[in-house]
Amino acid sequence: MCALRLGVRFIDTDQVIAQESGASIAQLLEREGEAALRERERQLIERLSVEPCVVAVGGGLITMEPVRKLLRARGFVVGLDASVPVLLSRLAQSKEVRPLLLPDPSVTLPALLSRREAAYRDVDVRICVDDLSAEQAAERVCLLYRQEQPVLTMGEVCYSDSLPDAGLYGNRSIVLFDQVLATVGRGVLGPWLSRIPLRYEVAAGESLKELSGFSTHVEQILTLAQRAESPVEVVAIGGGSVGDFAGFFASVWKRGVPLVQIPSTWLSAIDSAHGGKNALNVGKIKNQIGTIVFAKQIHLCRELLFLQPKERAREALGELIKMAIIDGGAWTQELFSSTLSGSELLWRFLPDAVRAKYSVVRADPYEKLGLRHHLNLGHTIGHVLESVHQLPHGLAVAQGLHFALQVSRKRGFLAETDLRYLEAILSERFGLPDRKGQLPKIPQRRFLELLSQDKKRTSNAAIRFVVVEQLGQVRTVEISLAELCALAIEQGYVLTE
Ligand SMILES: NC(=O)c1ccc[n+]([C@@H]2O[C@H](COP(=O)([O-])OP(=O)(O)OC[C@H]3O[C@@H](n4cnc5c(N)ncnc54)[C@H](O)[C@@H]3O)[C@@H](O)[C@H]2O)c1
Repeated sequence: MCALRLGVRFIDTDQVIAQESGASIAQLLEREGEAALRERERQLIERLSVEPCVVAVGGGLITMEPVRKLLRARGFVVGLDASVPVLLSRLAQSKEVRPLLLPDPSVTLPALLSRREAAYRDVDVRICVDDLSAEQAAERVCLLYRQEQPVLTMGEVCYSDSLPDAGLYGNRSIVLFDQVLATVGRGVLGPWLSRIPLRYEVAAGESLKELSGFSTHVEQILTLAQRAESPVEVVAIGGGSVGDFAGFFASVWKRGVPLVQIPSTWLSAIDSAHGGKNALNVGKIKNQIGTIVFAKQIHLCRELLFLQPKERAREALGELIKMAIIDGGAWTQELFSSTLSGSELLWRFLPDAVRAKYSVVRADPYEKLGLRHHLNLGHTIGHVLESVHQLPHGLAVAQGLHFALQVSRKRGFLAETDLRYLEAILSERFGLPDRKGQLPKIPQRRFLELLSQDKKRTSNAAIRFVVVEQLGQVRTVEISLAELCALAIEQGYVLTE
């Protein structure tokens, strides 16, 4: 639960040891003894990845001083305490054999705890979980971690079947919501929305993000905010346009107030609600001004996301596959071979895609190292297709992935077999074939004009372009506009003049 909320990988040391040795912890204790088991655990902790993750360790492992030191040096160590009666009642409900507590846990457990007390005290923080559900304990751990490392966690990601209780959004929350949500699904959200006292309805879309309309919105929101208690927070409920608008507003209102995101489209749930970026459009040029400020919480609610029409799920696949190609973790194979489809597929793999996005963002939160730029895979020509052919964003990205794969092969970064494999995943597995032949060709001058407005342009004559080396390995290269245009002509996207 903590790993899901923080959007990082989860490692259970007992599970890993059992998997690697082919025996349960109880069998290993019996066969090899406690010292040998502790040695296995120590080796595992030493080789743990440096990637952000939540690690669950057994109570014995933490008693080893070198391991404890290592864990504290690398991370934030939380001890979960419970009283002896609570532990005994939980043990009675569990079928797991605990050899160290035999023969009678009511005698052995208190003795074991008192032997280990000094070690259990030597952690960053201890919390008593006697009266907490697992969900509440996870919430408290994440809160403590966030206070400890506010920049690294970048907001808590919460997954739930239904929307958070509307009662939570009292007079401290200014809720900006997409007006469409009052009517979708035969108005199921109407009663929920009407329980929110300080709500501001917006029409989603690019015009909402238009700088010229921003001051009118701000004046109306400030009038509403006169009824708000201090301190205030902004809650955005809607797709990427509402998230971008609300994120920008929250980041500049009173020099910055906390933001909560409740994405209502797949695109925003997979991508735009995470990572702190927001933007407004200036004239016809998209995303020209914006800030990077991380939301305090992102709620991903099945009920809300499943209200979207089926077609939106297909469109969102482009972003999901992009994340899979960038990340390449074990989940990508599961995704590629999954028999699920549509919204069920997206919901199943949402935590993996979100985790993958955070692992890129965390490595370069403010886009200083160029790593975050990898998230633009498929977007260079994708944005051009979106604006010229009015393609939905996800479909434009999927087409942009085809182009990026071809460029990667052409430039010698991607092997022919990998090209064929990834093309087949896009076309056959996900029904997103290369449709460049069906799109009207873009006049060369228009193509170059759009490319030169791209934020990824490095100089007048070049652009940063993300190429694929293999599944899970991408890199940014600089390509001159002339070369990119020549590649687009060769691929059949652009008409020479
Ligand atoms: N900040 C970022 O990191 C980032 C990343 C990618 C895209 N974006 C931005 O996101 C925007 C596109 O996102 P989007 O497609 O979510 O846009 P959107 O907010 O315009 O929503 C698309 C449409 O879906 C409707 N809608 C929203 N929720 C619905 C629901 N549950 N059921 C039915 N209809 C619903 C909206 O009313 C709208 O008509 C663009 O402005 C883009 O620039 C931002």
